Amino acid sequence: MTTDTTTKDATPGSNPPGETVLDARGVTMRFGGLTAVRNVNLTVNSGEIVGLIGPNGAGKTTFFNCLTGLYIPTEGEVRYKGQILPPKSFKVTAAGIARTFQNIRLFANMTVLENVLVGRHTRTKEGLWSALLRGPGFHKAEKASRERAMELLEFVGLDAKAEHLARNLPYGEQRKLEIARALASEPGLLLLDEPTAGMNPQETRTTEELVFAIRDKGIAVLVIEHDMRFIFNLCDRVAVLVQGEKLVEGDSATVQGDERVVAAYLGEPFEDAPGKDEVAEVEAAEAHAEPSKDTAPGKENDR
Ligand SMILES: Nc1ncnc2c1ncn2[C@@H]1O[C@H](COP(=O)(O)OP(=O)(O)OP(=O)(O)O)[C@@H](O)[C@H]1O
Ligand SMILES: [Mg+2]
Repeated sequence: MTTDTTTKDATPGSNPPGETVLDARGVTMRFGGLTAVRNVNLTVNSGEIVGLIGPNGAGKTTFFNCLTGLYIPTEGEVRYKGQILPPKSFKVTAAGIARTFQNIRLFANMTVLENVLVGRHTRTKEGLWSALLRGPGFHKAEKASRERAMELLEFVGLDAKAEHLARNLPYGEQRKLEIARALASEPGLLLLDEPTAGMNPQETRTTEELVFAIRDKGIAVLVIEHDMRFIFNLCDRVAVLVQGEKLVEGDSATVQGDERVVAAYLGEPFEDAPGKDEVAEVEAAEAHAEPSKDTAPGKENDR
């Protein structure tokens, strides 16, 4: 596991080391009689990748929605770099938190590049009149935006497909495009909701590298995933939600070894669980596998 937390190649939204980027305190979200999230505290510091895991329906996505202004928590408060977040999604994005969605949300009939340009709108100063009149200020800003968008596409490995329609991308690449679009708002914190759902093992590995690279740019990351190998390889800290409550939080070894987490979520290893040799064999096969063009969509691909 990479433990290097130095920040290189910092982007405009990047964080100085040691800062608390996200501070969620006592967040509770009720829907009628159902308490989906109950009194959850969670911090993310600069330079960190933090994981959020838990069974289906545990409240992970609801918690993300409370962090990003989609839901106003019934109780509790969320601070980003010390400031209480405004209860509106676009203001949260402008403040510096970007996210991807469990159910991919792209503009299917726009090109890959256009999708990233849409993500830049919170960072472009040019207003409606400038866009309509198309004066020199507009052209300059548009050129800078396109350059930045192409840079981001290169960063996620999609620059060669900039002019393709988003809907023609294989599923794994659509997830990467969502990440590029989120990065286009120049965030200091990126929230990823199941970034590898529906990906094959090789795509999952590439996404792991991508998340490390994002962290190395000085962007803190909070990630929800059900793929435990991905989570435990990647995260400095992992919090476990069960029935809306935070059950345990700690480093990968602590969480993997916690009896309550094993009982509530991870489960005991099966009797015939593969040994080290089998795991090595599977990994070697994965490393040589051809990337699949028609990746089977996961349950979440219900756009
Ligand atoms: N808008 C809503 N109205 C009513 N109930 C909701 C709403 N959003 C979520 N819930 C409920 O809140 C609970 C938590 O759901 P949530 O989607 O946050 O779980 P999750 O941990 O993300 O699960 P998964 O791993 O399956 O994505 C569920 O019981 C869900 O039905
Ligand atoms: Mg979810």
